[in-house]
Amino acid sequence: MSWEHLSRDLHSILNSFLDLVECDGGSIYTIQKNIQGESVLVFKAMVTRSVGIAAVPDALKSVVFRLDENTLVGKTGLHQKFFKEHYPNAKTNGAINYKTQNILSAPLLTPRGDLVGVVQLINKIPQVEGAEAQFDEKDERLCGIVSAQAALAIENSTLLFEQEQILDGFVNACVTAIEARDPVTSGHSQRVCDLSLNFAETINKEKTGSLSLIHFTPTQMRELRYAAMLHDIGKISVKEDILKKEKKLYPWEMELIEMRFKLMKATLRQQLSGGASELELARRLKELDRAMQMILSANEPTVLPQDVSQTIIDLTKLQVQVDDNEVCCALHEHEKERLCIPRGSLSKDERIEIEKHVSFTYEILKMVPWSRGLEEVPLIAHRHHEKLDGTGYPQRVKADQIPIQSRMLTICDIYDALTAKDRPYKAAVPLDKALAILEDEVKQGKLDAILYKLFVNSKAYIIPGTEKSRDKKVA
Ligand SMILES: [Fe+2]
Ligand SMILES: [Fe+2]
Repeated sequence: MSWEHLSRDLHSILNSFLDLVECDGGSIYTIQKNIQGESVLVFKAMVTRSVGIAAVPDALKSVVFRLDENTLVGKTGLHQKFFKEHYPNAKTNGAINYKTQNILSAPLLTPRGDLVGVVQLINKIPQVEGAEAQFDEKDERLCGIVSAQAALAIENSTLLFEQEQILDGFVNACVTAIEARDPVTSGHSQRVCDLSLNFAETINKEKTGSLSLIHFTPTQMRELRYAAMLHDIGKISVKEDILKKEKKLYPWEMELIEMRFKLMKATLRQQLSGGASELELARRLKELDRAMQMILSANEPTVLPQDVSQTIIDLTKLQVQVDDNEVCCALHEHEKERLCIPRGSLSKDERIEIEKHVSFTYEILKMVPWSRGLEEVPLIAHRHHEKLDGTGYPQRVKADQIPIQSRMLTICDIYDALTAKDRPYKAAVPLDKALAILEDEVKQGKLDAILYKLFVNSKAYIIPGTEKSRDKKVA
């Protein structure tokens, strides 16, 4: 963005040069690195008043000049000093019918003395029409004053550009760090970001209705991009086991139960072997097998049927006497609690722990000194689990405190969580069902109805070039 601003600013600075030094045309070149990493000069602004040129022609945009003796612009950059050239017998350039008679070429140096570009002024305007004019020392002095201004503009713009690059790199590094802890949901932040930006661009194109009054500026788009990329950064503070939890019991808890069952079976075989006890042994072993089946089924993160829940409670009473003083229970109290989670894999405490990620997101993002125009990044991200009716978290705020960017983010976040195909323990929800779930939330007054309608009608959920496969599921 700052490069486009720079080009506009340099054209206005160049016009100041032409007024001040009284000449017909001029160009400003800036330093850039070519593919080999060498510094070269490229056209950034061009004005030739007598023939109506007010911008760099397309044909010249890709022309580069090395810092060497072969061209005047290259020589000015190489030696970092003024050059004046005069061509009394200059030929007319047939293409634009223009004749260059004299050039004042000056380096653009920052106060630290770094070369950031070159300015060339062409054809000094004579005081008397028809007379011959040349650039003099006074022009050099005037040119020197405006050159400093141009050099500063270029340096500021370069710094801004570099700052944006650093911020982008930092944001990407953060996302990599979050997703490295939970490879199962990797790609979520980038997809939510792509969806949110696509959604914002769709809103920008709206011609009717209340959304046509909203327009996201390029800076607001950047703000939304950072908020979307970093909305789950607080997950960095959530325990990895909880983050990756797929079933109600952790794997090591399940292993412990299996070991216990093996011990109980081995004990029973020892105690009830031979003769009349065989039938009782078979009954007890079968009972344990059924109990294990029940535990495995209850361990799945689906909705727990009432009868399974009751059986699991009863399993705490299923015991085997392993020696005189010790009894082995099929299920311990805390295991029963976990297996009786009515829906999903998380206990109440674990859910609270996961939900804390939003507050951490806010705390982390508040520590970043966001530059002008990006101040709302922490707030936009902080509200991504809030609902319009106040039933969300962490602050349970209502519609009037939820910015539109957060409302968009919420829709994109839920949509991606439902349709993501990269979770081995959870099948991706088909598109039509995912939209129906979102619609249900709209009907309950939790999500923004107008935004949802546009999201669906404009198919903003399809990220151009990447999301076709998800869309196919509609049919
Ligand atoms: Fe989240
Ligand atoms: Fe998320």
